[in-house]
Parts: sequence; structure tokens; C-alpha cells
Amino acid sequence: MTFLFNSDARRGHIFHEAFARELSDLAFSMDPTSVDPDAVRYLITWTVPDDLPRYRNLEVLFSIGAGIDQFNTAHVPDHVKVVRMVEDGITRMMQEYVTLGVLSLHRNLPAYLSHQRRQVWNALPQVQAHERRIGVLGLGNLGQAVLERLKPFGFVLSGWSRSQHELEGVACFAGEAGLRAMLSETDLLICLLPLTDETLGFLNADLFEKLPQGAGLVHVGRGPQLVSEDLLVALDNGQLAGAVIDVTDPEPLPAGHPFWSHERILLTPHIASVTQPHSAARAVIDNIKRIRAGLDPLGLVDRRRGY
Ligand code: GLV
Repeated sequence: MTFLFNSDARRGHIFHEAFARELSDLAFSMDPTSVDPDAVRYLITWTVPDDLPRYRNLEVLFSIGAGIDQFNTAHVPDHVKVVRMVEDGITRMMQEYVTLGVLSLHRNLPAYLSHQRRQVWNALPQVQAHERRIGVLGLGNLGQAVLERLKPFGFVLSGWSRSQHELEGVACFAGEAGLRAMLSETDLLICLLPLTDETLGFLNADLFEKLPQGAGLVHVGRGPQLVSEDLLVALDNGQLAGAVIDVTDPEPLPAGHPFWSHERILLTPHIASVTQPHSAARAVIDNIKRIRAGLDPLGLVDRRRGY
């Protein structure tokens, strides 16, 4: 039985060492050209390789990243389990980045950066944390972890997802009506939704209008969820006061795109959260042990739902 690692060699070596220690009965390969395709039971990759059908005995397809929207699962046989990356490194980095984004907008950093460039010394009015309402779209493990990290600041916290959740200290909303209700009480909106047919273009003019005037956006989902022109209009007409954007469509963002130079956008190149090889190897090994014990792996994707 073989575990095939189809990603960068640096992370591959770290996985290899961990696998040799913990799953020594499993052969580990980083080379699809030399592997016996019939022996491959597990494959970890960023995109689904075109020659996937040659791995006739494949049981589990692991994503090296948190999302699986880049997977074209149409060619993945139904019996193959598809598993997202759920690991502590991704979670911790997402908590850091969203905290950075929330605090930046909360403390008017885009305005102060612009003042600095123009040598303007000017204190703006400051809303206190307990008066600032944060709404998180998506209450999977990342959404929940981010809310947990924001708690000590004393913000008013809420979260929305497709299905109803119960989280201590967080007002939870679900469904279409719940979305409207949450948005009307959200000063800083964080998008942590998975990319699916339903969330494509989700962050659009219609949604921005449901937020109180002067709200902010932290977008760490996927680029195609945001309608760029609608964001620019909302920023320019004051419906939104600022945005922290880590994901764009396309990536990299082309030269000359208005996001690069917009005074009220803080832009980063999809670095909010990156799979960390040591903790990711740990998570994948634990998942293989779970599967061998007859349990579902953590991060098992519901193929019909798309995440
Ligand atoms: C990054 O966006 C990932 O999916 O891990």
C-alpha cells in the first residue's frame, strides 16, 4: 500500500519523515512516475491529476489545502473519500490573520495609513470593541476558531451558516432570513465560506446594502465569492468603510487592478493561512489511523454539498 504525495518536495520530506515514524507499513512516494499505480491507496494533492483513473485502488483523496473547490471531483469515483485539510497550523494562521484584519478595520488603519502618506496628524473618533459587532460567514472549524480568538477583545460576536449552530458567546444565525438578520447588525463582516455554486458572487451589492452603512469586510474565503466592482462601488459611495482582502479573482491580481491602489483596501496575496507541513502530516496520519479504525476522517467532504 502506498501514500502518494503530489506537492512540493520541501513539505514532502517532512511528511515522509513523519510517515516513516508512524505509519511504517505504508510505502511513501513523491514520484508518480515511479510508483506502482495499483498500490496507491491514498493521494494528497492540490488539484486532481488528469491521470487519476490510473490509481484504480485509490481510497482517499486528501487536499493539501483547507479548500477543495480547486478539485474537479467530476472525475473522482464516488467511492473515493475526499478530505479537506484540517490542521492546527492553518487554524492558527487564520486566527492571526482575521484578528489582524478585524483590528485593522476596528482601529481605522486604512485611514491612518493614508494620513501617514499625506503627513496628516489627525485622531479619528474611535468606537469601542463592545460597541463593534462582528459577523462571521461560515461556522466550520475555521469560523469557530476565529470567533474563539476574537472573544477576549470584547466584540459583539455573531455567526451565520447554512445549518443552525450553537456556540457559547456567539449569536448564531442560519438560512436566508438569518442572513438578513445578522447582516443588519454587523459592522465588520468576515467571509470564511467555502466556494460552492451557492457562494459564487455571494459578496455583492445586494449583500453590502443589508449591512449598516460604513461597515467593513474581511475576505478570506475565495476570490470568486466577491464581486469586485460591487465592492468598489460600495467603498466609493460609503456603504462600506474599508476592506481587508486576501483572496482575489483571478490570482495573482493583475497589474493595474483597482484593488492595488484603493485607499480603503488592505490587500494581501492569499497568505492568510497556509498549510504547515509538520502539523499537516500529523493531521493526515491521524486521519489514516481513523480510517483504518473504521471512523470517518476529520474534514471528510460531503461530495453533494461541495465542502
Ligand atoms: C488556502 O487557501 C487553502 O485552501 O489552504
